[in-house]
Amino acid sequence: MKLSLFISDLIARGPLYAVANYRIHTPVPLDAEENWRFWTEPKSLWLEWLARSYPLEPARIAYINAMLDRDHSVGIEAHYDVSNDFYALFLDTKYRFYTCAEFESDTETLETAQTNKAEYLRSLLNLDGDEKILDLGCGWGAMLKFLQDIGHRGELTGFTLSKEQQIYADQELGLNVSLTNFITHPFENAAYDRVLSIGALEHVRPKELEQMYQKIYDALVPGGLAVHQFFSLAREPYPNSVVMLQLFFPGSMLVMHHTHIEAAERVGFKITHDSIHDYRPTLRAWYDRFVANRSPALELVGLETFNRYMTFFPISWLFFQQHEADLHRMVMLKL
Ligand SMILES: C[S@@+](CC[C@H](N)C(=O)[O-])C[C@H]1O[C@@H](n2cnc3c(N)ncnc32)[C@H](O)[C@@H]1O
Repeated sequence: MKLSLFISDLIARGPLYAVANYRIHTPVPLDAEENWRFWTEPKSLWLEWLARSYPLEPARIAYINAMLDRDHSVGIEAHYDVSNDFYALFLDTKYRFYTCAEFESDTETLETAQTNKAEYLRSLLNLDGDEKILDLGCGWGAMLKFLQDIGHRGELTGFTLSKEQQIYADQELGLNVSLTNFITHPFENAAYDRVLSIGALEHVRPKELEQMYQKIYDALVPGGLAVHQFFSLAREPYPNSVVMLQLFFPGSMLVMHHTHIEAAERVGFKITHDSIHDYRPTLRAWYDRFVANRSPALELVGLETFNRYMTFFPISWLFFQQHEADLHRMVMLKL
């Protein structure tokens, strides 16, 4: 990567973005140990301050607003349509969840931790077995498959924006998953007993949020539940980390947690559960699997994408370590 690009990134996007982008373009594969330490070891106070303060807030807002004007689906596809075989190199082998698991001890495998998470969400869904369920942003169909495996009898439907995921969920798992944009696609009124989302509300942009909750509310039968797992900003609405996040999710912008609650309540939901969970063990588990599969990963996606994911996991770990955002599980009741 040219030094001139690093310098222009530094001025326009700040040190966090510039260093991340520089490391992504390193001409050799990043070293596993050095790379994890580079991002996660504590820095001097002035370096932390610099990373948090630049670019100044008006520049962050202008840049993010320009990114939000782009076609959102292009950014989603850029992240998820890398290759199904690539994601299989680090996700759990049982369900292929690409969302925060629930580690109950340090010795648990990723497979067990993802099953724990699915069980936790199942308890929040409060099912008797016949409910009609819609999964927004269903990925590779992980939660739908889990529900199928436990013998759920009601109709299961999933929406994704990723062609690769849809092909896998439809052809490999035989699930009813379609390539449907849940933000722009109208939902049928009072059609579902449960609306579920795991790691999808992060992709709903601030100006779309209330309309999204309204659609979910209208799609539920009275007494129906919306169960969501997502992360939201905990400290400030425009942290520098969301500028840097554009390297991984172009055109996505997170929302403050209180904004989620206010929007959901305004459309009529009663919030009956809101718990916070630790994303860091899952990110570390994905990283460890990813570096263990370094050769096939490099072969499948090449150097730049390899280094992009090497950077993505520890940077995301840091994001939660510094409490820029928290991972929530929520239940919303339609009265
Ligand atoms: C982090 S993945 C989570 C996948 C899955 N729920 C899981 O737990 O593994 C986010 C998912 O949201 C989907 N997504 C994001 N925005 C979307 C939209 N507007 N319409 C449909 N799917 C969307 C992506 O395609 C992807 O499947």
